[in-house]
Amino acid sequence: MNKEKNIIPENFLWGGAVASNQLEGGYLADGKGLSAVDILPAGDNRQIYLENPPSLELQDEFFYPSHNAIDFYNHYKEDIAMFAEMGFKCFRLSIAWVRIFPNGNDKEPNEAGLQFYDAIFDECKKHNIEPLVTLQHFDTPLELCKQYGGWRSREVIGFFENYCKVVFERYKDKVKYWLTFNEINMVLHAPFIGAGITVKDGENPLQVQYLAAHHQLVASALATKACHEIIPDAKIGCMLASGTTYPYTANPDDFFHALTRDRQAYFFTDVQSRGYYPTYTKRFFEENNIDIGITEEDKAILQTHVVDFVSFSYYSSKCTTTDEEVWKHNSDTNFMRSVRNPYLQYTDWDWSIDPVGLRITMNQIYDRYQKPLFVVENGLGAIDELDENNCVDDQYRIDYFREHLKQMKEAIRDGVELLGYTSWGPIDLVSAGSGQMSKRYGFIYVDRDNDGNGTYARYKKKSFDWYKEVIATNGAEL
Ligand code: BG6
Repeated sequence: MNKEKNIIPENFLWGGAVASNQLEGGYLADGKGLSAVDILPAGDNRQIYLENPPSLELQDEFFYPSHNAIDFYNHYKEDIAMFAEMGFKCFRLSIAWVRIFPNGNDKEPNEAGLQFYDAIFDECKKHNIEPLVTLQHFDTPLELCKQYGGWRSREVIGFFENYCKVVFERYKDKVKYWLTFNEINMVLHAPFIGAGITVKDGENPLQVQYLAAHHQLVASALATKACHEIIPDAKIGCMLASGTTYPYTANPDDFFHALTRDRQAYFFTDVQSRGYYPTYTKRFFEENNIDIGITEEDKAILQTHVVDFVSFSYYSSKCTTTDEEVWKHNSDTNFMRSVRNPYLQYTDWDWSIDPVGLRITMNQIYDRYQKPLFVVENGLGAIDELDENNCVDDQYRIDYFREHLKQMKEAIRDGVELLGYTSWGPIDLVSAGSGQMSKRYGFIYVDRDNDGNGTYARYKKKSFDWYKEVIATNGAEL
């Protein structure tokens, strides 16, 4: 038992993670502008919009689940109090750039937007909860998408840098942990939400995606620079959609394919953590006619301003092969294709469940960078039924977390330095991928359905008390 208790460091940041557009609502409140995610409809059209929307205008016939979300905008005190009741040490949230700069590049920031986050950080402080703030979580300002083509334009770097400087100055006494871009590799899998880009007929999609990626990488380095200058005692990290890729067989071709898939993701954190483009990109760029126009100044910026820690989301591992026949049995997880892995169970949304994959991923990332890690997303999206006592018996969620946290502890025993763990969606919120409310992740149930109907009342699920105990015992009791 004592050995167990000592595995997780005393100051470990336990908590939960959310994104502004998936829970706040108030989509036009107090001068907020529209962002890329505000034009993502619910239903069958969503996938098209996530990748390459045919229009950047709101359409009357669509329902937009982010517009009200779970109305955290008006419930944040109650919600943060419930997080505090669970014993949260940390709350990961994102600032909506368009609350601060409605068009992304306005001359002056929107004071009402700044005050909203002041109020949230003050509420966190009241409960001794450390905020961990993501600067961009899938929400490129829509005006920048329209006028500049999103992150394909180099000019957006300067607008982002300005926004970052404003929020660093404003919140320098309140926020000491920052992340630049959520799941920065998402530009390759869901390009519109990843980087606000649309790809026109006849364009080379990879060229547009990697150009946007380069601009985000430079912007991330400039945000890191500004953070270090304005808040010297803060830590700033990068954020990757992770999950190791297994070869389907021991065929060396499958192994190399898996390695290539992992490099596709690690490319981003290689740059953010090491400060330069990895050598393997040269051949890839040449063979795919990609020219990102990297300048000597870009190289110097990337080299000088590397992140302090590496954070990541982990939901599933992936599996790949060069055998096309095997690909007939695939499952898409978090926008990424994968061959079905016969050794794993799958969720209601067909995402593989692989706790050992978390340990492998943590070891791989730590071996690669030797920097502290932070698990900033992990969780189970499932169908929950509220019972007559307004509770949800979500034992399946407890089981999911228990197994993942066991493996997280194994990774710490393996020598991985870990700053904290924030579960995804500690309170039910709108799913980024499907737009559904019925894909629930929370320890707290929110009475809202896929069409936005409901009382928005909050109820504790069975997992609420379980997670509370985990935090109270610093992970000794799982
Ligand atoms: C990550 C995102 O991709 O996974 C979150 O950072 C997202 O925004 C989470 O919600 C879970 O995905 P989904 O599609 O189930 O909401």
